Amino acid sequence: MPPPTPIEHKPAEQVSAEVKAVPASFRFRCIGCGDLSDSAVQNFRCSLCGDLLEITNPKWNNPQGSPAPTAADLKATWKQRRDSLSPVDLSGVWRFRELLPALENLHHVITLREGNTPLYNLPQCSRITGVPHLFAKHQGMNPTGSFKDTGMTVAASFARQAGFRWVACASTGNTSASMAAYAARGGLRSLVLVPEGKISWSKLSQALDYGAVTCQLRTDFDGCLRLLQELVLRAPVYQLNSINPFRLEGQKTLAFELLEQLDWQAPDHIIVPGGNLGNSSALGKALLEMHDLGLISRLPKLSIIQAEGANALVRTLRETGGKRLVSVQAETHATAIRIGNPASWKKAVRVLQATGGACEQVSEIEIAQAKAEIGAEGIGCEAASAVTLAGLKKLLKQGFVKPEESVVLVLTGNLLKDPGFTMDFHRGDLFPPSAPGDDALSTLQSLRRPPIVLDATLDAVIRTLEQAEKSSPQV
Ligand code: F0G
Repeated sequence: MPPPTPIEHKPAEQVSAEVKAVPASFRFRCIGCGDLSDSAVQNFRCSLCGDLLEITNPKWNNPQGSPAPTAADLKATWKQRRDSLSPVDLSGVWRFRELLPALENLHHVITLREGNTPLYNLPQCSRITGVPHLFAKHQGMNPTGSFKDTGMTVAASFARQAGFRWVACASTGNTSASMAAYAARGGLRSLVLVPEGKISWSKLSQALDYGAVTCQLRTDFDGCLRLLQELVLRAPVYQLNSINPFRLEGQKTLAFELLEQLDWQAPDHIIVPGGNLGNSSALGKALLEMHDLGLISRLPKLSIIQAEGANALVRTLRETGGKRLVSVQAETHATAIRIGNPASWKKAVRVLQATGGACEQVSEIEIAQAKAEIGAEGIGCEAASAVTLAGLKKLLKQGFVKPEESVVLVLTGNLLKDPGFTMDFHRGDLFPPSAPGDDALSTLQSLRRPPIVLDATLDAVIRTLEQAEKSSPQV
């Protein structure tokens, strides 16, 4: 570790902390003007036009300078590493390091053995939707309970390599939980900016437990992110939001691992929730790279689903054809995706166009129903993840997905991330009784399993058992 850098308040032009690429292993490319550079300033925006950066791999991650590895070599190397006990090989992210930006030294890696998440079949949801080949890639099974860990291991490792003492993020909860954990593991200090009263206690408590300096700001997520973008230009703080392209590089590994689990047979559709739109961008980038390298022979269609109350991308596509961002004042019970001004919208539009995917929105009731249906599979997820199943139902109705096609839903967060949502749903407190669309509300009734308070007698328990058997004998 380099000696600690004291945090000082400096005007923008005095902050010299930069992230540099290791010569020839990767470069930064502006998604707007295409400018290529070997270093990036801390807001990770193009110094010429201000657009976002992405990482390009001129010759992939091949320090020896020999020709890029073939698809067969890559598959064999990654498989072999599954028998290794080295910490970087045990990571479901660094196991795929040939397709990640190279660190100067793998000793900088901060890992919690992220990735390695299960791919489940969903027999009950298959019956409900009429799609027999339906799977869930559960990123909520990561060490801190969300997909953020796969990106965080990469970006936090680069922060450590660059000698930063502080890392920071704005968050709806999961990024902050993940960042705080990786910072703690890597001996870094972390600063969290979250909207006050708008994130779940579970996520907030993770950040506290991992030792982050946690600020609850009187604004929304978009306000927190705006402030962070200013802060990183004034203080030597490394930003770990998904604007940071190293995060997206790590999140690409979801696709590598998924395709390996499917024996490199691409599914017809992958469906992912959309918030700040970093994850969909990462997934799309991975699919395109895999296709270019011959790891897969055809591209799945990548579709993005948003909550109706946080539908900036849906409106951007419908109202401007994807040319100009339409920001919204976000409101949804799926707090993880309560984002109205998504930073990576351009990247997301590009991957939708490149893979031929769709973008849809789903209602609060549809989200709650889908979440309960995934829960009834014994898997569970947080509300933001359940938009994928709700979205699939819409895409089936529209004929965009055909029942005989194979579909993978990306579940982004663990059920335990937001017990408040789950309790409110089962107790019947999530929606006011007079909520519009009462027909839809009544379909939720059969999925509710409120806790039952009883006298502590055998009779009372047996009566409850009999009633439960009578009311839903099929379960
Ligand atoms: N699902 C979950 C569980 C999330 O936490 C997020 C984003 C998303 C989906 C959307 O992913 O932003 O890449 O489009 N959570 C962020 C956070 C913003 O701060 O935890 P995205």
